[in-house]
Amino acid sequence: MAQDVNREHWGSRVGFILAAAGSAVGLGNIWRFPYITGQNGGAAFVLVYLALVFIIGFSVMLAEMSIGRKAQLNAVGSFQKLRGGMWPLIGWMGVAAGFIILSFYAVIGGWTIKYFIHTFTGLMADAAGGKAGDVFVGFITDTVQVVIYQAAFMLVTTWVVFRGIGEGIERYCKILMPALFIILLVLIGRSVTLEGAEKGLEFYLRPDFSKITGGTIAAALGQAFFSLSLGMGCMITYGSYVDRKTALPSAAIQVCFLDTMVAVLAGLAIFPAVFAFGVDAGAGPGLTFVTLPSVFAQMPGAMTWSGLFFALLFIAALTSAISLLEVVSAYFIDKGWSRAQAAWIMGILIFALGIPSAMSLAGAPKVAGKDFLDAMDFISSNVLLPLGGVFISLFVGWFWTSEAKQEVTNDGSLSFGFMGLWIWICRIVAPAAILYIFYTGLKW
Ligand code: PHE
Repeated sequence: MAQDVNREHWGSRVGFILAAAGSAVGLGNIWRFPYITGQNGGAAFVLVYLALVFIIGFSVMLAEMSIGRKAQLNAVGSFQKLRGGMWPLIGWMGVAAGFIILSFYAVIGGWTIKYFIHTFTGLMADAAGGKAGDVFVGFITDTVQVVIYQAAFMLVTTWVVFRGIGEGIERYCKILMPALFIILLVLIGRSVTLEGAEKGLEFYLRPDFSKITGGTIAAALGQAFFSLSLGMGCMITYGSYVDRKTALPSAAIQVCFLDTMVAVLAGLAIFPAVFAFGVDAGAGPGLTFVTLPSVFAQMPGAMTWSGLFFALLFIAALTSAISLLEVVSAYFIDKGWSRAQAAWIMGILIFALGIPSAMSLAGAPKVAGKDFLDAMDFISSNVLLPLGGVFISLFVGWFWTSEAKQEVTNDGSLSFGFMGLWIWICRIVAPAAILYIFYTGLKW
């Protein structure tokens, strides 16, 4: 069994938080959050989302981090070491979810590379002429191109995981996360001053509670798990690289906070523009890729901003994709494979599974009426991740409670004011709420 001394660890507390935030902040915040919000009625959805993040999301994140740090192993190995029995199945489900999510995530990751390059080869002129929508549809239905960019994205992801998690990722994140943040603020400034922006602000900021249905809440829950990288052992794996001195509760809250802030800001950049350019707010996956180029085209230095934005979106996607592949690879590495074997073999298999998703943008294949990509997204985000969250909560709330308490307080050396509350959320609130939301709201 791996000992602390042999295992690679984050260089610093900040490094860990930024790597975990790098995992959390990704396409889920900037690409997925706005379009899911658009499809689910706007502001009311955002409020439900915030509540779910800070009650359930935070609790599950802390549970995952404490499991991983205690065991110092991958998602499957952690449960094996701490309790055994059927528990490792949770880890297996997580590895499967990581596999599935990365398969379609890399397709969208490829879009960011395409849009970065195309910024300098005509995108701005087309967007200025109101043709951003046509450009987008033309691209995603060109399967060969989509697969090439998907392959490029997987190649970079696999290469970074193969190189190891240490210095590279930590140093990257420290520079790039603040940069992303600043660019977002500038974009918001441009977006909210566009003519017709008020309608978008109203849609995004004024809640209409009649829009909240079981389906809305289920979508918010799926989005929270996806965006926070929860329910699949990612935070267990990253937690396993944390040293004994780091305070987990404050790390977990900071990651939740950063992640949520970027998502909310992305909505603020996108919705005013959506309404200003007359795009349908419920347009789905193309929302960001159609509206933002239109905004950039209206700004002086259009290419610079667009190039910068898509470069950063690529990096945000990359730091998340790395964590997905790391979950899968860590399992095989702890099993004795070399890092090179684990990363490259899994990278290739995940790429292969992603090809039907890439093709489905042009119309086929479908799974029970849904595009393959949407189906993969639905199964992982709305089913596997919340289900993983239920079992992780139950594990901490009922079966590993006193050890969990020790772990989050670093063996009693720091205090955690919400201990009782956290345990009860893990015990009852989170599992019951997630199962109830499933039961009432899960709609294919
Ligand atoms: N949280 C990432 C995002 O928002 C996606 C992700 C999900 C990463 C699950 C790791 C695990 O883009």
